[in-house]
Amino acid sequence: MYRYKYKYINLDMTKGIVVIGLLGTTLDAGKSPARWNRWRPTISLFQQEDMLIGRLELLYDRRHTNLAKHLVDDIALVSPETEVSLVQHNIADPWDFEEVYGALQDFALGYEFDPAAEDYLIHITTGSHVAQICLYLLTESRYLPGRLLQTSPPTKKDPGPGSTSIIDLDLSKYDNLAQRFETERDNATSYLKGGVETRNKAFNAMIERIEQVAIRSDAPVLLLGPTGAGKSHLAQRIYDLKKARHIVEGKFVSINCATIKGEQAMSVLFGHRRGFAGAATERRGLLREADKGVLFLDEIDELGMDEQAVMLDAIEHGRFYVQGSDREAQSNFQLIAGANTDLSAAVREGRFRADLFARLNLWMFQLPGLAERREDIEPNLEAELNKLMNRGESKIAFAADARRKYVKFAIDPSSPWSGNFRDLSASATRMATLSPRGRITAGIVDEEIARLKSQWSAGEQNDDFRLVVEVLGEAHASDLDRFDLVQLAEVIRTCRSVASLAAAGKELFAKSRRRRKSVNDSDRVKKYLAKFGLSWGDIAE
Ligand SMILES: Nc1ncnc2c1ncn2[C@@H]1O[C@H](COP(=O)(O)OP(=O)(O)O)[C@@H](O)[C@H]1O
Ligand SMILES: [Mg+2]
Repeated sequence: MYRYKYKYINLDMTKGIVVIGLLGTTLDAGKSPARWNRWRPTISLFQQEDMLIGRLELLYDRRHTNLAKHLVDDIALVSPETEVSLVQHNIADPWDFEEVYGALQDFALGYEFDPAAEDYLIHITTGSHVAQICLYLLTESRYLPGRLLQTSPPTKKDPGPGSTSIIDLDLSKYDNLAQRFETERDNATSYLKGGVETRNKAFNAMIERIEQVAIRSDAPVLLLGPTGAGKSHLAQRIYDLKKARHIVEGKFVSINCATIKGEQAMSVLFGHRRGFAGAATERRGLLREADKGVLFLDEIDELGMDEQAVMLDAIEHGRFYVQGSDREAQSNFQLIAGANTDLSAAVREGRFRADLFARLNLWMFQLPGLAERREDIEPNLEAELNKLMNRGESKIAFAADARRKYVKFAIDPSSPWSGNFRDLSASATRMATLSPRGRITAGIVDEEIARLKSQWSAGEQNDDFRLVVEVLGEAHASDLDRFDLVQLAEVIRTCRSVASLAAAGKELFAKSRRRRKSVNDSDRVKKYLAKFGLSWGDIAE
């Protein structure tokens, strides 16, 4: 006896059931009596006890007219109540996606559906895989206003007419799937953020964009941001994400362009042949190392003009000349470029090619410094401590008052966090190291705050101080008030950027000059310098 494996859900008994399906040219075939012992998908539809099919729309190709007619006769034997309408549906190549989709869509557009009176089931077991995909697409897009019906052959455990099941495309049923996609995406963005739950809206939105770009594009990406904002870290993570999704198979190759200035740069990047400029061995170069992978060029604004030209060619065509060779080499890599400064300034100053900049500018992301997303300092601090904890064994935690103190200081607008992540991670490391039994106390926080403050104010003074030391010597410079130090440094900088004392005066007193208050600017500069015992000649580098 047959055991019915019928899993039909939500059958509306008040409507007539209409099945739309394709003739299965192999599985539905058969003329000998043995055919009744074989599973035939279309026939199996009519062997399901609780489903009475009012009508079958059987789509067939004219080459299989005889088979279609036989099948109609067989259906009449098992289900005399069913009306079968044969729909000629000619397809030259059942594996041609465009043709099959077009033909099925034409059928759907031409068919007079009456969903109020009829319940349509789209049988997807028969037909080529291409046809099945097309039926799925047309059903999902509601060109076919029905539900997908799948039949499956009997199994050893369940002999009989096989089973049928409805694949309901009701969107609510997608929830699980959608949830999975959502989780995947959250995983990806959280991954790019280094697993830290950041709270800054703009930053989160940017990371989401970067995630989309990382997954869908192999065009160049430009990461801008102050030092320590996490450009290198993010570049690595983008690569890791692509690798995990099987989008890249090559390596992550990373170089800071400031370290390859001069004669070496060409060879380092593009390689050279043996014998080139006396080289004993061939050099592959980083571009070829990064083939099928990702090349991260940090501080790309430090790249020389010649290298920029070759690089542009390489990213546009995937081709470039190896030094000393007249054959082109190939490499397909995604370029991620990093820079601390706005590249457009470098373009204006003629230090950076406008066309290369335009290429890089397609996906430009400006990473904010920590000071611009203070709400993220606390979760990142927490993450840093966790990292330290995982490295060593001991537990590290703030005492409650200590934590409040540190966070208050950290989010205060007067804390510049000029080294960004570098500052934060160093600060966390110091506090953890100095904490007995992993407990960070208020005392330790006080000490750390003082340390950061002096570090930051030294940083601010640093450039000015160094400059003044250069011309006045350490002893004299140390003796100056901060007021004078800052002013003198600015005067020195200006003098060095122009050709003459007069030009320096023009620049420094530009405003009062316009008001015609000052008659002799160079004299004013001269007198100012004289206060420190300096003359124009002393300033030169
Ligand atoms: N999102 C982040 N989460 C945790 N640590 C980070 C993050 N971004 C950067 N860091 C860490 O901060 C330091 C500086 O980051 P880095 O990527 O080198 O900055 P940049 O390249 O912008 O100067 C590195 O030690 C890096 O591991
Ligand atoms: Mg870096």
